[in-house]
Amino acid sequence: MIGRPFLLHCGAAALLVPRLPHTIQSVVNTVRAIYPGTFDPLTNGHLDLIARGSKIFDHLVVAILNNSEKQPLFSVPERVEMIQETTREFDNVSVSQFDGLLVDFARQQHAQALLRGIRAISDYEYELQMALMNRRLAPELETVFMMPAEQYSYLSSRLIRGVFRLGGSVEGLVPPTVIERLHARASRDRGPEE
Ligand code: PNS
Repeated sequence: MIGRPFLLHCGAAALLVPRLPHTIQSVVNTVRAIYPGTFDPLTNGHLDLIARGSKIFDHLVVAILNNSEKQPLFSVPERVEMIQETTREFDNVSVSQFDGLLVDFARQQHAQALLRGIRAISDYEYELQMALMNRRLAPELETVFMMPAEQYSYLSSRLIRGVFRLGGSVEGLVPPTVIERLHARASRDRGPEE
C-alpha cells in the first residue's frame, strides 16, 4: 500500500514525493553509523559503547584506523579478529578497517553518523576539534557522542598496554580474548625459554 505523499524540502524547492510502502520506507530510513578508532587493543569501555551504539543505530560499523605511521601492539587483522569475536552477539555490528580520511570511508559506507565516546571533560576538546573538522569536510555526517559506563571512564588502550607491559592485571578491563592475546603476545616477545 502506498501511503499519503509527503513534502520533501530541497533547498528552496519543495517536492511532493509519494510515500513508500512501510517496509521499504523503513529500509530507506535506516541509520548507519561508523564507530572509528585505533582499538589497540579493544577495551571494555569500547565494548560498552558498541553495545550502546547498536541499540540506537540500525547498523554500526566498527572501523579500525590502519595507520602506517604508528607502531601498534596488535596488527590490524588481529584487532579485526578480536573485535569480531567479541561483538558476535550483536547482529547489527560489523568490523572494518580504513585508511585516509574518516569522512571518505563514511561516505563509501553510506553512513549518516559517526559515533565517538566521551569519557571525561579532558576528551572534549580533541573530540570537538575532530567533530568540527569532520563536519566541515562532510556536512551531511553527524557526530554522535555517547558516554561509556562510569566504571570504564578512566580506561584507555594506552593505559591497558602500559599496565600489562609492567605485569599488572587488566582482568575485567578488556574482553577475555584480548587478555589471551596479550599473554600470547608477551610469551612470543619473550621467546623460547631455556
Ligand atoms: O581511537 P582514537 O585513536 O582516538 O581514534 C582516532 C581516529 C581514528 C578516530 C582519528 O584519528 C581519525 O579519524 N583518523 C582518520 C584521519 C582523519 O580523518 N583525520 C581528520 C579528522 S580530524
